[in-house]
Amino acid sequence: MKVLFSGPVDVSSGTVVIFAFDQCKLGVRGKNVDRKIGGAVSSAMKSSKFQGKLGQCISILAPANIKLDRIVVFGLGKERNLDRNGLELLGSKVFQQLDTDQIKTAVLYIEDINNKEVNIDDSGPQIAFGAKLSSYRFEKYKNLRKSETQTRPKSITIQLKKANKAREKFKILDKIVDGVFLTRDLVSEPANILYPESLANRCKSLTKLGIKVEILSKAQMQKKGMGALLGVAQGSIREPRMVIMEWNGAKNTSKKKQVHPIAFVGKGVTFDTGGISLKPAGGMEDMKWDMGGAGVVIGLMSALAGRKAKINAVGVIGLVENMPGGNAQRPGDVVSSMSGKTIEVLNTDAEGRLVLADALHYTNERFEPKFMINLATLTGAIIIALGNEHAGMFSNNDQLSARLAECGNEIGEKVWRMPLSKAYDKMIDCDIADMKNISGGRGAGSITAAQFLQRFVGNTPWAHLDIAGVTWSSKSRPTVPKGGTAFGVRLLERLVKKYYEGK
Ligand code: BES
Ligand code: ZN
Ligand code: ZN
Repeated sequence: MKVLFSGPVDVSSGTVVIFAFDQCKLGVRGKNVDRKIGGAVSSAMKSSKFQGKLGQCISILAPANIKLDRIVVFGLGKERNLDRNGLELLGSKVFQQLDTDQIKTAVLYIEDINNKEVNIDDSGPQIAFGAKLSSYRFEKYKNLRKSETQTRPKSITIQLKKANKAREKFKILDKIVDGVFLTRDLVSEPANILYPESLANRCKSLTKLGIKVEILSKAQMQKKGMGALLGVAQGSIREPRMVIMEWNGAKNTSKKKQVHPIAFVGKGVTFDTGGISLKPAGGMEDMKWDMGGAGVVIGLMSALAGRKAKINAVGVIGLVENMPGGNAQRPGDVVSSMSGKTIEVLNTDAEGRLVLADALHYTNERFEPKFMINLATLTGAIIIALGNEHAGMFSNNDQLSARLAECGNEIGEKVWRMPLSKAYDKMIDCDIADMKNISGGRGAGSITAAQFLQRFVGNTPWAHLDIAGVTWSSKSRPTVPKGGTAFGVRLLERLVKKYYEGK
């Protein structure tokens, strides 16, 4: 769907969207429309019990003697309560209404949203952002009939006074949309199409945004001693890859002073059968999105580079397929990670931590980042603990975790901090190697997984987001259609913008 911006001019055909505050308070342009159609808006508001609550909507067919087709009225709620999130929600409702009514294009009279607390320059772009986010569909494998696609909303035109300014603002938001959509595309892709090599190849397309993309082959990883990651990969005929994406957007203050980048690390298991510790058949198809962490890192890098963020950021993803092939690793095997630490693999289904062990160590050693945030669909246990509402957050740094929690609440990708401690760490001590990859007990599965990761991050400020419960959604939410959510892209984009950019 396209978003266009223009100055306020009354349109005389097609669909017009107008807005009313609480208690049916129409703005100047809304009132004009109402007058033109003989008070049909006012009477429809009355008879339908429309009150102007946020997101409330009535869709009115224009009377026969009027050239307009349809007038859609949206409630804004109370002036003082309207904020960015409300506008975003509104945008998604507008899209959904147009979709339901099978309206291809519509004009939105935005400047009626004249609120002291909402900057008028922002309300247009913010509504457009919400509309666009909710317009996502993954349909590349569907042979759609023309009748199904022709009725979709194709464009919305946002009318307001400072159209140029709004257009510029939306351009930035649209880069975030691009990142979110890229992540959703990758997460939705089936594993016969998306495997380590093909996923790495897709990352190459980021070079057109100015990102430096480097791909490590299996041989290169062998040379570096990434035995933990390679152990997972050896049961599949698909070769593993590691992708390093660098965005250098910070101003070069002094050449001598090397600016430490911020780093994002993702679990990219393109399919997780469990390996020899095979998963049960029911629901195994979900494991195509076990590369969700990597997907977020890719989308985030795209968003940051797309909007030319003034920051040096690096994204590292470990890509493997976890299969039970003839050469697969066995329960009881001992592998040696790049850090030199040895691991007894007691369960081949606890593979994400093995991949991340090498990815985190490599990132830390090579880039000495200011902080590292890793994302992973790491444990089923986090779904038991937090369901689908919060991602689990584990961190060795109070400031970083407070910031993450705050940004998550602001944009609606919420994280909940979970504990780490020596006692939990002890649970993965091992008799014959430095550690084992599962605790063996039934409790604290997400925590012991996080403790495992912590053994590979040294003293670098670090946060681990266990996104197993929030990466895929079986129900639609306003700006997040069902399927791949891209949870994490907007959260981390906000974190960078609010706390680290240009600093
Ligand atoms: N990819 C899974 C975790 C997962 C489960 C993600 C459900 C999304 C939805 C992970 O590799 C895994 O299998 N973890 C095991 C760990 C166990 C063997 C200690 C789990 O959670 O059961
Ligand atoms: Zn697994
Ligand atoms: Zn997994």
